Amino acid sequence: MRLSAQTFAKHRAQLMAKMSPGSIAIIPAAGAKPRSRDTNYRYRPDSDFYYLSGFEEPDALLILAPGNPKGEFIVFCRPRDKQKEIWEGIMAGPEGVLAQFGADAAFSIHQADQHIPELMDGRAKIYTQLGQCDDWDKQVMTWLRAVRAKARSGACAPEVIADINAELHELRLIKGEEEQLAMAASCELAAQAHVRAMQYCQAGRYEYQLEAEILHGFAMSGAMSAAYNTIVGGGKNACILHYINNDQPLKEGDLVLIDAGCELDYYAADITRTFPVNGRFSAPQKALYELVLKAQEAAFAVIKPGTLWNEPHDVSVRVLTEGLVELGLLSGDVDELVSSGAYKAFYMHRVGHWLGMDVHDVGAYKIDGQWRPLMAGMAMTVEPGLYISPDDMSVDEKWRGIGIRIEDDVIVTAEGYRVLTDGVPKTVEDIERLMAG
Ligand code: GLY
Ligand code: MN
Ligand code: MN
Repeated sequence: MRLSAQTFAKHRAQLMAKMSPGSIAIIPAAGAKPRSRDTNYRYRPDSDFYYLSGFEEPDALLILAPGNPKGEFIVFCRPRDKQKEIWEGIMAGPEGVLAQFGADAAFSIHQADQHIPELMDGRAKIYTQLGQCDDWDKQVMTWLRAVRAKARSGACAPEVIADINAELHELRLIKGEEEQLAMAASCELAAQAHVRAMQYCQAGRYEYQLEAEILHGFAMSGAMSAAYNTIVGGGKNACILHYINNDQPLKEGDLVLIDAGCELDYYAADITRTFPVNGRFSAPQKALYELVLKAQEAAFAVIKPGTLWNEPHDVSVRVLTEGLVELGLLSGDVDELVSSGAYKAFYMHRVGHWLGMDVHDVGAYKIDGQWRPLMAGMAMTVEPGLYISPDDMSVDEKWRGIGIRIEDDVIVTAEGYRVLTDGVPKTVEDIERLMAG
């Protein structure tokens, strides 16, 4: 479900309400990115820009100028160009932006150098995205100097430049009603694609063929792209956290880890499942798998408003450490192993991250140096894992080269949490039943 025009307007109003009096925000669209020589990747707008506008073309800027009598929401975009449209497709142009995107005023991007210093004149503060792109930082300074150059004619240049991201990303962190529906739809679709991949899996097929099956599943259900590079790691490749080569054959007796999520209407899903290539877990695989699942369930159990961000992680560390001692992969006192970080040899990432328009979504994890409390409307992943290096001589041979992660997506609710990705089986019994069918 695409966000409605009202929702984009609400995002702008919320951001303007947080901006200090007499300020102006200037936010650029992402540029096109070359893939090779003169061909580009398919364009995808920057999430911040899209969140505030719904506008999907490159070479654009948006301005929020609260209280400006000539309009509070102003867009600069590519002017329509018949010749260019023959090659690249229809452009909205300033007239289209006015008609379709709720702008109060719209201009050609070629008029930005003329209008933006005028819009800055008399504003006390400029908000923009600072330090992300050298060219953009320079551009903002160029416009600022243009206002200063007119001081003798009465222009008043802003004296403060501030990063908009802190305010904007706090808004993006709490998902509204439509955003939650969009996320649920994205996650449901991603879950279906994971089921397909499990059913398709067999020894001799290649990792990239499972990837293709997943991407096919995304597309056939209506999601044009993945939210990030799909990870398909058979056997020991699962121990490489961001393995994306996906070029090896799947082997009888190995597990395979698939970390894949679609992007549907700009919202990412992020799911990991680990399952046996031949459909049956071996005893050591099952023991480690059930330990990771137990850690995930323990992490879920503490998610509710008021829980601090680090608590689900700390709970997962404790459960995994206890289990690793029971299985003989670690030895010693659990409290000491937790405080010394001994578990990090096998569990080297955190239990999750914010999720939204970006797979690793925006939003601070700490406030004033302290882990922040969860609030209803936050979306996050819960993804504990265990990765036993194939050359770890400190553990029994039977564990070596096993990598397992189980990842689901949740939204924090007033009562606790809602799992968005429960359409893919994850108990040993359910996975074995699905794969036997
Ligand atoms: N797919 C990257 C992650 O799970 O964080
Ligand atoms: Mn993932
Ligand atoms: Mn993740």
